Amino acid sequence: MQFSVTTSTLDKPRAGIRAAGIVHKRKPAAGATALDAARDGEITALLKAGEMDGEAGSQLLLPGGGGPGNQGKGSALLIGLGAKKDFDARAARKAAQTLAAALVERPATSAVIAVADFQPRGKDIAWTVHTLVAAIADAAYRFTPFKGKEKTPPVKLEKIQLSVERDEAETANKACSEAAAIATGVNRAKDLGNTPPNVCYPESLADTARELAKQHKKLKATVLDEKDLEKLGAGAILAVGKGSERPPRLIAMEYSGGNKGDAPVVLVGKGITFDTGGISLKPGAEMDEMKYDMCGAASVFGVIEACCELGLPINVVGVVTSAENMPDGRATRPGDIITTLSGQTVEILNTDAEGRLVLADALTWVERYKPKAVIDIATLTGACIIALGHQGAAVLGNNERLAKGLLAAGEESGDRAWQLPLWPEYQEQLKSNFADMANIGGRPAGTITAACFLSRYTEDYTWAHVDIAGVAWKSGKEKGATGRPVPMLMRYLLDQA
Ligand code: BES
Ligand code: MN
Ligand code: ZN
Repeated sequence: MQFSVTTSTLDKPRAGIRAAGIVHKRKPAAGATALDAARDGEITALLKAGEMDGEAGSQLLLPGGGGPGNQGKGSALLIGLGAKKDFDARAARKAAQTLAAALVERPATSAVIAVADFQPRGKDIAWTVHTLVAAIADAAYRFTPFKGKEKTPPVKLEKIQLSVERDEAETANKACSEAAAIATGVNRAKDLGNTPPNVCYPESLADTARELAKQHKKLKATVLDEKDLEKLGAGAILAVGKGSERPPRLIAMEYSGGNKGDAPVVLVGKGITFDTGGISLKPGAEMDEMKYDMCGAASVFGVIEACCELGLPINVVGVVTSAENMPDGRATRPGDIITTLSGQTVEILNTDAEGRLVLADALTWVERYKPKAVIDIATLTGACIIALGHQGAAVLGNNERLAKGLLAAGEESGDRAWQLPLWPEYQEQLKSNFADMANIGGRPAGTITAACFLSRYTEDYTWAHVDIAGVAWKSGKEKGATGRPVPMLMRYLLDQA
């Protein structure tokens, strides 16, 4: 899919679809008015006849033709925007989704959109461009590499032009390249998340990193295999991977877009390519969904790819800590005590609390980068879904500015998060009679005690943890990876650049 900005208006004849908005009470917005002129008043007539009233969520497709002014070319798509006074960011996002769903269903290969029609109060043209591009890319996403005969009809739409006023073109252009790069990153994260666990495993993720580094000059990939991890003393990553035929990997992708020597932002992604729970085996229902337990890692790949595509002028390191959590004769048992890379010992009380273990070693390892900030992203706790459902990610950390920055980036990009406290009192839940700490903290505040565990490995730098258990994928009929929180992370990095 190719996105671009144009200053050509919708009254110019062209092939493909022209999309504009209708405000509730049958009023065409600016783009729809231009379209109406091109169609010799056809839209005004239809609105008058009550064919469409502009209700939010409504739509009307006018086939090509439409009188001499239209020169027999192109169809028009009208999207209801609801009442003007209700047209806020949330309504605009919904309208963009309605538009996107309608566009990808059509046989046309190109479309031009009147951007200003979809701009809500309080938001600028850049926000609107971002929102439209994200919605269209999302609706156009398909995952078909494993479909044999039963093919879903492919999306025909290829070229999307965003029509804006001349004095907004520069801003819109910049937003358009950013949004297109973010969409590439989101698609990458979705693809990795959706890939089945017999095909996606630690070494295959390492291959993905190597391939990305081959494609992008500013990117360098380093892979630590099980022998390297043993030499290093990464006892926690090794403990989680022990039950699997697929050995663990620690993967680093160093993106150098900024000045040499500038402290990087480091992203650390949980990459459990399948989480059975290990010896503390999970129940059978929906266990297939535990292939998504590498979505933190997937989002790190997505962000790194988007940075490369954009040429973002800062240094970013993406680290993926990857293992497969399996039950086996060699697997780690509840009761085992391991020594992490930091030297701290952990009594494993539940082998299903494995994410914090692979993260612990990675968070220690990234000290080498003398990072400006470290953000880890993980499908870490079921408790996070209990707390926030599927609406938002949880953010915790040791630095208010960083946490607030992530929350704001999430709000702006429609990839929301909510902060939970890391009060010292919670740390007591991790007490062990036999080791420096236990790997679980009991039922109360499960998301917080998981972050407490991580906090013991992040004392030397500015750190935030993003628990994406509720937002990284959808269950049910639309089962699949969402690509979140790539938009939030990219917004945060763009704000740093
Ligand atoms: N990957 C899971 C968390 C998870 C659960 C993500 C459901 C998405 C949906 C994690 O490794 C895990 O199993 N956590 C345990 C921790 C517990 C044993 C303290 C959990 O949340 O039940
Ligand atoms: Mn688990
Ligand atoms: Zn897990």
